[in-house]
Amino acid sequence: MRSDDDSWDITESVGATALGVAAMRAAETRRPDALFRDPYAARLVEAAGSGWSHIMRAQVAATSAGADPAGEGEPAYSSLAAMLIARTVYFDEYFAAASAAGIRQVVILASGLDARAYRLEWPSGTVVFEIDQPKVLEFKNSVLADEQPAVDRRAIAVDLRQDWPKELWDNGFDPTAPTAWLAEGLLRYLPGEAQDRLFDDIAALSAPGSRIALNIGRGRREDSPARRAMRERRKRLLAEAGITLNLEELWYPWEGRTDPRDWFAAHGWTVTTGDPVSLLTDHGREQPDVARAELNHHILMTATRGDENR
Ligand SMILES: C[S@@+](CC[C@H](N)C(=O)[O-])C[C@H]1O[C@@H](n2cnc3c(N)ncnc32)[C@H](O)[C@@H]1O
Repeated sequence: MRSDDDSWDITESVGATALGVAAMRAAETRRPDALFRDPYAARLVEAAGSGWSHIMRAQVAATSAGADPAGEGEPAYSSLAAMLIARTVYFDEYFAAASAAGIRQVVILASGLDARAYRLEWPSGTVVFEIDQPKVLEFKNSVLADEQPAVDRRAIAVDLRQDWPKELWDNGFDPTAPTAWLAEGLLRYLPGEAQDRLFDDIAALSAPGSRIALNIGRGRREDSPARRAMRERRKRLLAEAGITLNLEELWYPWEGRTDPRDWFAAHGWTVTTGDPVSLLTDHGREQPDVARAELNHHILMTATRGDENR
């Protein structure tokens, strides 16, 4: 159960979701036709213990297996993994475009085990701020202690429901420079009012030319045999690994909150969206119908602040 001031270590509560995402990135990295390579993901997951290594091995087996061996109508390479892969590609491309446009200040909100500060190419002079809960960042910093980031990386340990802008300022954030913000896999873990406050703070700190990228879900999903099978498979895998993680208990509903597309458009930002199915198709990863139906509930969004509005 969530509360307004809950906190967690990497293997606990919302912290564990960062491990789940990293396990998928490790699995994708092993594919010969990988759409991105994250050489840090496996190390981070392994450092969290044998249960997480088990999950990662299962992900690797699933991503290379292709069709569902159990015939449950959903490929073992699940729609969840497909969505995570699509969004990684989308946000990697987002940062490449932001760098090409001259942006040299980046804020990765809820960075978790995101290794972009280590694995992407950044123009010299770029600063990447990473914000997450203290214990999550402590874990990542200790596992990657002997690695050199590819950029001036500044890890800021603070809860995003608290006064994180102050911490950003104290660590050298420049509000006069355009910023590329990222909120990947975050919004679902915030209640609607905390999301609104987050957007207010981001807009207040964003010089003209700033951008933000994020992912959202849409629409109430009908339960279906494929969804139930996916949920069961996830439960089975977590139980085998001895891990307690119930995603549904950690999420706040999409329903009832402001749609980020509307929020940014109403505040004068130019909004564009991408969809995971098209993105994966464009990258040669055609999805089966059952996965497409699930992926169509996810939206990838970028918004750019023009000169006139804040
Ligand atoms: C699903 S993971 C995504 C991590 C990373 N963005 C990625 O995609 O690999 C969710 C992350 O959000 C962080 N998070 C959620 N709520 C937060 C909050 N209120 N303050 C700081 N971090 C938060 C968690 O600690 C976790 O690292």
